[in-house]
Amino acid sequence: MKFFIDTANLEQIKEAQALGVLDGVTTNPSLMAKEGISGEANINEHYRAICEIVSGDVSAEVISQDFEGMIKEGEKLAKLHHQITVKIPVIKEGIKAIKYLSSKNIKTNCTLVFSPGQALLAAKAGATYVSPFIGRLDDITSDGVELIRNIVKIYHFYGFETQVLAASIRHTQHIMHCADAGADVITAPLNAILGLLKHPLTTIGLEKFMDDHNRNL
Ligand code: E4P
Repeated sequence: MKFFIDTANLEQIKEAQALGVLDGVTTNPSLMAKEGISGEANINEHYRAICEIVSGDVSAEVISQDFEGMIKEGEKLAKLHHQITVKIPVIKEGIKAIKYLSSKNIKTNCTLVFSPGQALLAAKAGATYVSPFIGRLDDITSDGVELIRNIVKIYHFYGFETQVLAASIRHTQHIMHCADAGADVITAPLNAILGLLKHPLTTIGLEKFMDDHNRNL
């Protein structure tokens, strides 16, 4: 299971990279805006900076919503760095763009996926990753993790190579539920990843070891 961090914050990306378990980064226009990055040149520079920190795939989202615009942007983004994966929304023009970019060996991440049918079309088009947004489904009392389970089942049944990238993860338990559902990748905020380390018995046990060691000095 791959671990991606879902942020455009360079400090958090560095901290996750330093853990030694980071496989990639996902960003989106909202995450870039949160960091105050705007304008094509600055955005492209930021993607390059992220690629310099990590060694895995870095998702960079297109802004266009028509086929021509998406492939033009996608080809430009892919030229920025070999680690760039072009992130494309699961709309009609997006599916065409994924098919086109895949045929040019450009990695794609099909985003804003909320149903197994959308995921099926993304895989048929040859997407490298498909990103079901589980937190946003949970927000409307739909079962996000169940969607991951369904997509994983369908992909395994037909042998699709598209990787299921569980996105819109809100907390640590989401990560474990996605692991249980067979997600190939999770993308999560840093605090959700670090939450995996937390256990009161670890804290208590470590304190006891240190107390006993110091008493023996
Ligand atoms: C993933 O690629 C998206 O950028 C992200 O996970 C969306 O998460 P949100 O629902 O917390 O905005």
